Amino acid sequence: MAVEATAPGKAILFGEHGVVYRGPAVVLAIDRRARVVASERADGRVFFDALDLGFSGYFEGETYVPVYGQPWRGKNLQPLLVSARKTMEHIGADSGMDIKVRSEIPIAAGLGSSAAICVATVASVGELLGGSLTPDEICELAYEGEKVVHGTPSGVDNNISTFGGVLRYERGVGIERFELDGALPFIIGNSKRKRSTRRLVERVRRLREREPELVDRIIEAIAQVSQDGLAALKSLDLPRVGDLMNVNHGLLASLGVSIAKLDIMVHLSRGAGAYGAKLTGAGGGGCMIALSDESNLENIRRALLRCRGEPHIVGITYEGVRTRRID
Ligand code: MEV
Repeated sequence: MAVEATAPGKAILFGEHGVVYRGPAVVLAIDRRARVVASERADGRVFFDALDLGFSGYFEGETYVPVYGQPWRGKNLQPLLVSARKTMEHIGADSGMDIKVRSEIPIAAGLGSSAAICVATVASVGELLGGSLTPDEICELAYEGEKVVHGTPSGVDNNISTFGGVLRYERGVGIERFELDGALPFIIGNSKRKRSTRRLVERVRRLREREPELVDRIIEAIAQVSQDGLAALKSLDLPRVGDLMNVNHGLLASLGVSIAKLDIMVHLSRGAGAYGAKLTGAGGGGCMIALSDESNLENIRRALLRCRGEPHIVGITYEGVRTRRID
């Protein structure tokens, strides 16, 4: 018997980086999912097949033994190992495990692929071992895996992957989940430059140490934009959502987390008729997001291709983590 779990990736519409300190982030679950299938194995090993990502191998204790791919890939598997082990610890079980990972979410691109994989790992292992985990438990256990990748992330990524939909997330306050009246056309542009969330969060932290008052004012402004952006989104006031996305991009750039290619993609999208465009996620590469009328999507898609970005037209999904038994 095996259990398959899937969980969605995300795009942050407002509030990234600010949310690490204070104020809300507004996050959309996108219709690109990570898929994990877990089944028990008798030899006590935890075996990972992540061939889509270019590697497979197993852990004996803490030692990674590669079967396919480079030995250092064991580092990429640490968050999954931690997610699986914490889940077993939580439900008081200990078992060898085959864990197969597949994902439609581009990795290291700011679209929450690591959180989606951690959430799906916890859910599949938990269900396989009869743990009947609640969504809150799945979210908390996945956060343990996320900490291995990102240091001390705000928790926004594991929350959106667990619950799906549109979330207001604020550290220490929790989540508010809501549904929008109607589909919003978003387009995501991948700069195809990989980057590390941990390093970018660290960069903002160092800038804040050097310029505490200035950076706190920027963080305050991001919190305000995020709060106003949420209100505009709820009332489907798209021109205002767009204006606030543009302001949010400027504030993120002032924190030093944009790059020239993201700036170009953002400006070309606006020029091609988007209501607004901004980088999404940690920045430093990764993706930008634009909001547009249906009629301008194709123009924006072409503009992104012109500057060698990779466009993805995405929808919001209201389906959070899901599990199903496979016999
Ligand atoms: C990363 O998806 C979002 C950041 O705000 C980091 C975090 O919230 O942990 C940059």
